Amino acid sequence: MAKKYFIETFGCQMNELDSEKIAGNLQNAGMEPARDAAGADVIILNTCSVREKAVQKVYGRLGEIKGWKTSRQDLIIGVAGCMAQLEGNRLLKKAPFVDVLAGPQKGHVMSSLVARAQETRTPAVDLRMDDDPEPLETSFVLRESRWRAGITISEGCDRNCSFCVVPFTRGRQRDRESGNIIREAADLAGQGYIELVLLGQTVNAYRDPSPAGLTFAGLLRNLASVPGLSRIRFTAPHPNYFDDELLDVVASCPQVCNHVHLPVQSGSDRILRAMRRGYTRKKYLETVHKIRRSGRAIAVSTDIIVGFPGETAADFGDTLHLLDEVQYDCVFSFKYSPRPGTAALMLSDDVTHEEKGERLMRLQEQQKLIQFNKNAAFLGQRVEVLAEGGARANYRLSGRMSNNRIVNFDGPDSLLGSIVSVEVTGFSPNSLKGAWIG
Ligand code: SAH
Ligand code: F3S
Repeated sequence: MAKKYFIETFGCQMNELDSEKIAGNLQNAGMEPARDAAGADVIILNTCSVREKAVQKVYGRLGEIKGWKTSRQDLIIGVAGCMAQLEGNRLLKKAPFVDVLAGPQKGHVMSSLVARAQETRTPAVDLRMDDDPEPLETSFVLRESRWRAGITISEGCDRNCSFCVVPFTRGRQRDRESGNIIREAADLAGQGYIELVLLGQTVNAYRDPSPAGLTFAGLLRNLASVPGLSRIRFTAPHPNYFDDELLDVVASCPQVCNHVHLPVQSGSDRILRAMRRGYTRKKYLETVHKIRRSGRAIAVSTDIIVGFPGETAADFGDTLHLLDEVQYDCVFSFKYSPRPGTAALMLSDDVTHEEKGERLMRLQEQQKLIQFNKNAAFLGQRVEVLAEGGARANYRLSGRMSNNRIVNFDGPDSLLGSIVSVEVTGFSPNSLKGAWIG
């Protein structure tokens, strides 16, 4: 009987895609998906290490499944992804029952690591950082969705924000050749996929290594002309590489979604410098204003860290003020979490835990009001959404508008995976409610 696997994914969209690559590799080796972890012969936790909390979550989960090995001696437990890379042998010391330890770009060797662990009954470890771009090409990705697909365009990050562990876990930036990306996109469109999400840690720092030498904007423009693709998203761009050419593509290509996620992290120049973000508040705001003046209604969202070491009440006030000024459509906000190996670890952190929590709450309260008002403006409008499952609050379907807003609505399952018209009948800070216009 074929062995069954189950993958649990923690963290970002890139990890979701990495899990699909791992699934593809295990499937190619003759394994089958299990319905749940309890029914699996191989459990892979694909992990995140961007904040301490994410790491604790995985240790918690490992604690839960550890006991399963007493009754199921052949059970293989694997830890993959950024936390595996960062923790390394420390993880094997803390959790000696783990059989496979693999870094973030090891989907293509996962089945052989599992086989090795089964044979040798000792942990199979692969934490080598590949500088060779070859592993960026994946032979088979087993995708969760039949209409939306993530595509890796680059791996790693060459920046060194002082709080961030990603350059250590995912390594230096490596880019795929544009021809391979465009071929994969066309292939996905041929299979019926209508929405693509281009993924890279600093996605707009993309440099085409092939003779075509496309810029990120050029790549987007090429992908927009692939027949059948209705929507193209990308995440996450860095403000410093958001140039006029990219703005022009977003403003002029209807296939490119009218949403830009532009992480700012802080509204204070002092803190931005300490974070080594490479831009000032003024420079960032210029980019946002250009986006807003582009002639297309482009939603802008961001990431913010509160309580960075040395952040004073005045610095935090600058961040609150920035939110008022930009009027973001959505904000992901986090308490600063010290990470091993990062430069910020050397700074003395004088913002208490309570203060960080309080600032986070204040920021989220303020942003809630902004989003409430912004969403109110959609009431009565007719909008286009890509219908998917997983709706909230008694609705059957849910979907995203091109600008990334979530709309919950009722309609038959036959709508799943197509772009449909919905009239907005209600709103909250985080989503809209609507009625399908049949
Ligand atoms: N360029 C990446 C960033 C990855 S980390 C991307 O794809 O978005 C995602 C977000 O986590 C960052 O933008 C930052 O806001 C937050 N983050 C990163 N390191 C953090 C830390 N040490 N503490 C708190 N939040 C952090
Ligand atoms: Fe991290 Fe900064 Fe790169 S947030 S992923 S080091 S751009």
